[in-house]
Amino acid sequence: MKRYTAFLLLVAAIRSNGQAPVAYNVDLTGNRKPIAESLWGIFFEDINRGADGGLNADLVKNGSFEFNDPMMGWKPAAGKAPDGTLVIVNRQAENANNPKYLQIAKQQVANGIGLINEGFGGMVIKKGQSYSLSMMYRQSTPGITLTVQIFNQTGKPIAKTTISPNAVSGEWQEQSINLTADDTTSKGRLVIWFDGQGKLDLDMISLYPSDTWKKRSHGLRADMVQSLADLKPGFVRFPGGCIVEGTDLNERYQWKHTIGPLNERKLIINKWNHGVEKRPTPDYYQSYALGFFEYFQMCDDIGASPMPIINCGMSCQFNTAEVVPMNQLDTYIQDALDLIEFANGDVNTTWGKKRADLGHPAPFGMKWLGVGNENWGPQYIERLLAFSKAIKSKYPEMQLITSTGYSPNPQFRYMDTTLRKLQVDIIDEHYYQTPNWFLMNSAKYDNYDRKGPKIFLGEYACHSVRIGSQDNKNTLLCALAEAAFMTGLERNADIVTMSAYAPLFAHTDAWQWTPNLIWFNNSQVLKTPSYYVQQMFSNNRGTHAIPILEEGKPVTGQDSCFVTAAIDTASKEVIIKLVNASADKKTRSLNWKGAKAKKLEGTITVLKGLGINDQNTMEKPDSVIPMVTKWQGKPNALIELPPYSLTVFRYKM
Ligand code: AHR
Repeated sequence: MKRYTAFLLLVAAIRSNGQAPVAYNVDLTGNRKPIAESLWGIFFEDINRGADGGLNADLVKNGSFEFNDPMMGWKPAAGKAPDGTLVIVNRQAENANNPKYLQIAKQQVANGIGLINEGFGGMVIKKGQSYSLSMMYRQSTPGITLTVQIFNQTGKPIAKTTISPNAVSGEWQEQSINLTADDTTSKGRLVIWFDGQGKLDLDMISLYPSDTWKKRSHGLRADMVQSLADLKPGFVRFPGGCIVEGTDLNERYQWKHTIGPLNERKLIINKWNHGVEKRPTPDYYQSYALGFFEYFQMCDDIGASPMPIINCGMSCQFNTAEVVPMNQLDTYIQDALDLIEFANGDVNTTWGKKRADLGHPAPFGMKWLGVGNENWGPQYIERLLAFSKAIKSKYPEMQLITSTGYSPNPQFRYMDTTLRKLQVDIIDEHYYQTPNWFLMNSAKYDNYDRKGPKIFLGEYACHSVRIGSQDNKNTLLCALAEAAFMTGLERNADIVTMSAYAPLFAHTDAWQWTPNLIWFNNSQVLKTPSYYVQQMFSNNRGTHAIPILEEGKPVTGQDSCFVTAAIDTASKEVIIKLVNASADKKTRSLNWKGAKAKKLEGTITVLKGLGINDQNTMEKPDSVIPMVTKWQGKPNALIELPPYSLTVFRYKM
């Protein structure tokens, strides 16, 4: 957020048209609804190249040669190598998780045989930055040395090193070596030359910059994780989304395949690789270098509670809608039980020990588990009951998140009614809707049953053109419509305990879905107006919602305004969030019940733009950003809400 300092003295006044301004009555003595720490969270799914080529900082595509086309991402460096020199060996029976590797069998000493890896649309390489190349090798006949180079966009080498594999045991070895770039490029490529004569097996080739998040080897992109940390999210829901379900059950997300040594993680095609009209991404796979341990670790790093979602024995109901028979559901349920043990179990338990061995003996403090993603129908209920029974009898404290499908739709009523009868813990609702829908529904939760299950708004986003359209844009209007809706979430914090915008990330060159909270390319992160709305709500959460009324009613669209108020008992502040969804400036007065201060001091944060279609772009990332101003004035000072804006006032009480 941009911060500038100014002191405004707003003087109580009568409007120029002679009418007293609309008053919002803040009641500091009124009913306080606790706001859950988890109210504003995030939802990560590996869609839009979110993981490989995104959060996972590895610059190499298909370094394990496990894609269906094992040489996808690779091409000869200088003409085709003689037949038989470079082959892919598939040892399926011996190593089902990582069957393929590259074998180099060179009969002649002659040089000039090599491979280029194109990265994810090129590699961003920075002058002076060090890069760690790592690989696994095995040599039966020693004699081949490797020259590793990074080429810039014109083919000029900007980094170079050599590797002489010296182990001859016939066992796989790991080797890492650093290269430092002497120039910068946004379209770099990795080149490996094979010199000498011999026979060498290669696998698991990766190239990571040294400036990953927390400088971890094989780590995450620091700028992307930072953008998440800046949201101060209460939780991270992961790993999806439809990706949990898979197009069919074979492609479902299996967390056990995603932990441990990288070469033991079982690569799988990404669900978003195919089936999205006009946006095919044939090179979209899941290497699982970003696996469940990394997700939990990232949650820890950014102070968010982990919220894993597990397959419930059903694949995506928009695709094959496969279900596993009830008599084969045990494996799926066991995965859920083992996941809880992995996250929370003592180091003496089987899965707790695995977590400790991976470097995290302390439990991850998992409180919630999502059973299924967007699943619905009696088949879901049947499976949910089996999961619930097993999980609750072993882990009664675990809160289960249950699905209503892709609400609102005809199935929603059945799901909602049935889940309420079952007295489930938390109901997950998803809303991808138009600006108008969000503006019209800010009072949606005002009449929900206060004694029923808690509500998790697991996925929502405002779609500017049409739901699911590839022309949707992250406009200011969409962000404000979401903000208007979010005032309703805060006002109903007694039942709405969690929410997350969706999807989180999208690569500008490789997306399947729009809009998204954060766009990125290989070197930049772009925060949308919706991102700033999330940040303004989350960074100004407060501990309790308190009443703020206009003529005795919550402000849910009167004169296009949407308002909510909270207090923060720790910092002793009042926080008022106001959305003006109209083209006119609005003047309001605040009346206080229970306030003693003669003078108020604090900050005003305003998010606005020049027009409702304003967006942030890579070229102009700051078109719509929040501006923070210091403020002091009398309690009854008039406040002004700019056209199309979100304003957050924060006063010391
Ligand atoms: O967020 C994109 C997709 O929308 C998710 O994968 C799915 O849960 C929903 O349909």
